[in-house]
Amino acid sequence: MRKIVINGGKSLKGHVAVSGAKNSVVALIPAIILADDIVTLDGVPAISDVDSLVEIIEIMGCQVKRSGETLEIDPRGVKNIPLPYGKINSLRASYYFYGSLLGRFAEATVGLPGGCDLGPRPIDLHLKAFEAMGAKVSYEGESMRLATDGQPLQGAHIYMDTVSVGATINTMIAATKAKGRTVIENAAREPEIIDVATLLNNMGAKIRGAGTDVISIEGVDSLHGTRHQVIPDRIEAGSYIAMAAAIGEGVHITNVLYEHLESFIAKLEEMGVRMTIDEDSVFVEKQEQLKAVSVKTSPYPGFATDLQQPITPLLLTAQGRGTIIDTIYEKRVNHVAEMARMGADITVTGGQIVYHAPNKLTGAPVKATDLRAGAALVTAGLMAEGTTEISNIEFILRGYSNIIEKLTALGADIKIIEE
Ligand code: UD1
Repeated sequence: MRKIVINGGKSLKGHVAVSGAKNSVVALIPAIILADDIVTLDGVPAISDVDSLVEIIEIMGCQVKRSGETLEIDPRGVKNIPLPYGKINSLRASYYFYGSLLGRFAEATVGLPGGCDLGPRPIDLHLKAFEAMGAKVSYEGESMRLATDGQPLQGAHIYMDTVSVGATINTMIAATKAKGRTVIENAAREPEIIDVATLLNNMGAKIRGAGTDVISIEGVDSLHGTRHQVIPDRIEAGSYIAMAAAIGEGVHITNVLYEHLESFIAKLEEMGVRMTIDEDSVFVEKQEQLKAVSVKTSPYPGFATDLQQPITPLLLTAQGRGTIIDTIYEKRVNHVAEMARMGADITVTGGQIVYHAPNKLTGAPVKATDLRAGAALVTAGLMAEGTTEISNIEFILRGYSNIIEKLTALGADIKIIEE
C-alpha cells in the first residue's frame, strides 16, 4: 500500500504551474475515437485517469504515442469490442465511451462506470438522451448494452431535467455523427464542455452554443484529425490557490484562466485573501487575519462542487463560524470526519458542513475517501503540526498531476512511501 507522508508546518513559496484539465481530457480521449485520422492532444496531465483511458483505447485498437504532455491517438483501427468491468470501473468518465461508441458504431457494451463515492451518481439523463436518439438500453451482468436497430443515431430534441456535465458532454459526443440535428436544452455550461466542443468542431463537427444552456449539433458523416491544447485545470488551480492562501508566503500559480474561477476567487476575496490576478496567473500573498465565510455550490458559473473540499482547510484558518452546503452532491462530506481527527472543529449537521475557526490542526493518520477529499487532506497535512499519513492515495493520483513534485518545489516536506 502506498501512502503520502507530510511533515507539516512548512510554508509554501515559489511557483507552481497548473496542468491540463482532468475533467476535459477524460472526455476528449473517448471523443477522439470518432475521428477518421490522427488527433494530437497537448497539455495532457500526468494522472492515472489518463493512464486508464489510454489502456482502454489501446485494447480497442487505437495506436497511442505519449511523450511528456503530448498524446497522439490514431483511432483508425478502433474495433467495437465489449469494454469490461475492471478498468472501466476505475473511473467515472468511462461513461463517455457510451457516447463515442454509439456515435461510431451505433452500438456499445461497456462495464458500469465507477469513480469517487460522492453519494448516488445516477446516469439516467445520459440514457434518456441516447434513447431519444434511437438507442435501446439493456443490461448484461455488470455491463450495459446500448444499441440502435442497426441504424445510425438520429438527431433529437433533448431537455435535461438536471444540469449535468457528464450528460451534456456525452449527448454532444453521441450527436456529432448522428443523422440530423440534436438540440440539448438546460445544458451544463462548464468550460470543459466548451473544450470538448472545440476539439470536435476542429475535427469537423458542427456544434454551436457550447458554454450556453442550449447546444445544437448538426450531425456530420465523418471527422478528420486535428491538434488540440487541453484547457488548464480550474480545480487544480483552485486547489493550489487555496493551499497558498492557507500556508503560503508568496506563491505564483501559472496557467490559470481566471474567467473559469470567478466565483471561487470572489469567495476568497470575501474572506480577505490578498491576490494579484494576471491574464494567466494568480499570485497569492502571505495572508493576515481571514474572515470565515459560508460556501454554497451550484452548477457553473457557481462555486464548483469540486472545490468545496479543497477550500475547507483554508476556511479553518479564518476567524468565525461558517457553513458549506453542496447542492450538487450533498453527501460529499467524507473529508469532514478525517479533518476532525486532525483537530478541526467541523461537523456535518442537517445536510450541511458547519465549522468554527480558527483551528490548530495536528498531524494524524487519515484516509482519502475520494479525489477532492484527498486534496483537502493534503492541504490539512501541510498546515498541521507534526506528521500526517494519508492512505488511499490512488484517489489523489487520479486527478492531481505530479502533486508531490509540485509541492516539494514549493518547499513542502511531502513524499510517497510504499508499505
Ligand atoms: C462531473 C465531474 C465531477 C463534478 C461534477 C459536478 C467529470 C468526469 N466529473 O461529474 O468532477 O463533481 O461534474 O460538477 O467531469 N445527475 C442525475 N442524472 C444523471 C447525471 C447526473 O441526476 O444522469 C445529477 C447528479 O446526481 C448530480 C448532478 O446531476 O446531482 C450533477 O452531476 P453531473 O454534472 O452529471 O456530474 P458528473 O458529470 O458525473
